Amino acid sequence: MQNFDYMTPTRLIFGRDSIVKLPEVMQPLGKRVLLTYGGGSIKKIGLYDRVKELLKCFEITELSGIQPNPKYDPSVLNGVRLCKENDIDVILAVGGGSVLDCSKAIAAGAKYDGDPWDLISYKVKAQAALPIVDIITLAATGSEYDCGGVISRTETNDKIGYMDPLLFPVCSILDPVYTFTVSRKQTAAGIADAMNHTMEQYFAADTTLLNDGFCESMLKSLMENGRKCIENPEDYTARAEMMLACTYGCNGILSLGNSPSGWPCHGIEHALSAYYDITHGEGLAIITPRWMKHILSEKTIDRFVKYGTNVFGIDATLPKQEIAEKAIEATYQFFESIGIPMHLREVGIDDSRIDEMAHHIAVNEGLENAYAPLTEQDIKEILMASL
Ligand code: NZQ
Ligand code: ZN
Repeated sequence: MQNFDYMTPTRLIFGRDSIVKLPEVMQPLGKRVLLTYGGGSIKKIGLYDRVKELLKCFEITELSGIQPNPKYDPSVLNGVRLCKENDIDVILAVGGGSVLDCSKAIAAGAKYDGDPWDLISYKVKAQAALPIVDIITLAATGSEYDCGGVISRTETNDKIGYMDPLLFPVCSILDPVYTFTVSRKQTAAGIADAMNHTMEQYFAADTTLLNDGFCESMLKSLMENGRKCIENPEDYTARAEMMLACTYGCNGILSLGNSPSGWPCHGIEHALSAYYDITHGEGLAIITPRWMKHILSEKTIDRFVKYGTNVFGIDATLPKQEIAEKAIEATYQFFESIGIPMHLREVGIDDSRIDEMAHHIAVNEGLENAYAPLTEQDIKEILMASL
C-alpha cells in the first residue's frame, strides 16, 4: 500500500429539505454573497426563490448563465469581476457540476490580482480563495466533495481540471428531491460519469481488497439505482443513493493507498468536450469500453476478471480471456441500455480532428504514465474505435 496524506474538509448536509440549514451555514462566512447558477433550471424547480427567501438578510449579487462545460470567458472572468466590484465574502453555487466548477475558479480568481488563467493553468499557485457553499442539483461529478473544477477555454481547445485544496466547498447541501427533474439524458450521463470515476480508480496496478470492494459496490449501486432513476425519476430512495455514490466518486477516497492510475478516460474525454462541447458523461461512456478493449493484455487481464466476476456476476470458471471480453461487453451494453449514444458520430464527432485531438491529449495529459501507458498512437486508435 502506498503512503498518502488525505483530507476532505467539506461538511455534507444530506436529505430531504436539508436546505433549511442554509442560513446557519452561510451566516459565519459573511453577508455579501455571489449567487451563481446556470441556464434557469433552478428557477423552474423553485429553488431560486427558496434560496432568495432563506437569504433575505444577506446582500446578494448574481452570476447566471453558467453553461455546461463552463467557460473561462465569459463566466469565470465575469464572476471574478463581480466578486471584486462587490467585495464578495462567500460564493453560493446552486446547480450542477458546471456551476460549482466555475464557482471554484471564481473563488480563486477573486483573491488574485493577475489573470485568473495563471491559476487554472498552474502557472501560479493560489494563495487564498473565497469560501464556497453549494446546493448541488445534479448527481454526477462529485465536485461537491472535491477540490477540483474543470474549466474550458474555447479559443485554445483547452479543458483543464484545476485542483487546489483551497477549493473544497465549506459545505455542500444535497437534497435528492432537487434531482427529480434532471432529464433522462443528464441522469444517464451522470451515472456514466460516476461509474467512470470509480473505474479510473479500480483499474490500477496496486490496489487493496478494501478499495476494490468499495469500488465494486459503487458500480453495482450506480447501475441498479441509476436504472431506477431513469425508469422513475421521482424515486427518492434511488435518487438518494445515486446522489451519495456520485459524491464519493471523485475525491480519491476510493483509492487511498492505491498506485495512481492516470485517469486515462478523463484525459481523453476532456479533449472531446473541449473541441466539440459534448456532454462529459456521454463522452466517457463512449470511450470507456474502447479503452478497456485497447488495454486488455496479459498484464491487465486479472483486473478485468475481478471486475467481470464481482461487478457483473460472470461465471468465474470460464477462461480469463472470455470473462474479460464479456465484462467489457457488459459495460458497453449497460451504457447503451440507459440510452447513451455509444458512437462519437452520434454526438457530432467525425474523424476530421482525431489526429489533432490525439496529439493534444498526448502532449497535455501525461497518459504515458497511466496504469496501462498510452502513446499518441494508442489514443488515436481508441478514438478511431469509438467513431
Ligand atoms: O444550466 P441549467 O439550467 O442549470 O441546466 C443544467 C444543464 O443544462 C441541467 N440541470 C442541472 N440540474 C438540473 C438540471 N436540469 C433539470 N433539473 C435539475 N435539477 O443539466 C445540464 C448539465 O449540467 P452540468 O452542470 O453541466 O452537468 P454535470 O453536473 O454533469 O457537470 C459536468 C461538468 O463537470 C465537469 C465536466 O467535465 C463538465 O464540465 N467535471 C467536474 C468534475 C469535478 N469538479 O470534480 C469531475 C468530473 O470528472 C467532470 O470532469
Ligand atoms: Zn468525470
